[in-house]
Amino acid sequence: MKTVLAYSGGLDTSVCVKWLQENYKTDVITLTLELGQNRKDMKEIEERAKELGAIKTYSIDVSREFIGEYVHPAIKANALYEGKYPVATALSRPLIGKWLVKIAEKEKADAVSHGSTGKGNDQARFELTVRALNPELEIIAPVREWNMTRDKEVEYAKKHRIPIPPKSKYSTDENLWGRSIEAGPLEDPMKKPEEDAFDWTTQPEKAPEKAERIEIGFNWGVPVGLNNKKLESVELIKELNKLGGKHGVGRIDMIEDRLVGIKSREVYECPAATILLEAHRELERLTLTREQNLFKEHIDRKWAQLTYFGQWYEPLREDLDAFINKTQEVVSGIVVMELYKGNARVVGRSSPNSLYDLGLATYDRGDRFDHKLAEGFLRLWGLPSEIAGRRKRKL
Ligand code: ARG
Repeated sequence: MKTVLAYSGGLDTSVCVKWLQENYKTDVITLTLELGQNRKDMKEIEERAKELGAIKTYSIDVSREFIGEYVHPAIKANALYEGKYPVATALSRPLIGKWLVKIAEKEKADAVSHGSTGKGNDQARFELTVRALNPELEIIAPVREWNMTRDKEVEYAKKHRIPIPPKSKYSTDENLWGRSIEAGPLEDPMKKPEEDAFDWTTQPEKAPEKAERIEIGFNWGVPVGLNNKKLESVELIKELNKLGGKHGVGRIDMIEDRLVGIKSREVYECPAATILLEAHRELERLTLTREQNLFKEHIDRKWAQLTYFGQWYEPLREDLDAFINKTQEVVSGIVVMELYKGNARVVGRSSPNSLYDLGLATYDRGDRFDHKLAEGFLRLWGLPSEIAGRRKRKL
């Protein structure tokens, strides 16, 4: 038997390598993906997997694919789960799942495996992806199966000479679109996250005293430039994570409804996502009609839910993308923002496709809006409620 394991190099997935060999008598091939975590230790991770007995190791940089095929669609969809979470971890899972299948097919493996628990959303995202792409592959989720406490797991690791990293206070996951932080002291929803939970963002109080102005260029709904300079997609996001992080932008603290029905306290730091989603939404306000904007909110909300709940390959997601992409044909232009002590505020916007008409909007000279038309318009606009009101008074 041959199994491809999504391997991060951490304790759980390291134990998975041994556990799979022992319990499934399977050869293990590890797959480690670079999604912009700036892993300098990719070689080290491969070494570790080999020492644990992996027969082959893969490490692949998929940052560009991640931005182009997952993050850009998320920007166009203004994707925020429950209005707050930019679905960073959620977006990475279908990509990792896709690569698991790809390598499994290449290696003629029988199974794929991941280190997710039975309580989280990630198991759904991995498994729905694998099922959609190749239902022949067996899926093994050791952490869900083995039922070990952390102590038992450490014992198991010691017995098998698996290196044990210092116990971290939190469970974290990161990629270019954001960093997710859970568990430990965060499980008390009343308790403010301590500073050591954060890694990408400066404490807002300690951020620079002076606001920093940035200008983001968009083309067809996708960011293409920063401060008048064209930037490659991955670089642009990295740069915004740095700039936003410096100003303490993008800290999110929320109660979240997981797929399995649990409410959990989640903390995120997503500087680039916070900046870009705010900027993109504003450019849509400028370039889409009122009807488009109001309708798109529903589509956007559904898109984020599908992504969050692991339904990336539900055909409806592609249908929604078709609608969303059509709307983005006019979403080009620039948005000016100021970053200051935890905030990213839009202060200016312009577009060749702008629907803003100064002649109609102005309260000064040059007003072309015909005020007299409003009177008749409002009689008709209010007619249905006028008639209903008359009935109510009669009853
Ligand atoms: N709650 C977030 C989500 O479901 C973050 C999950 C973080 N994953 C992790 N393995 N720590 O998308």
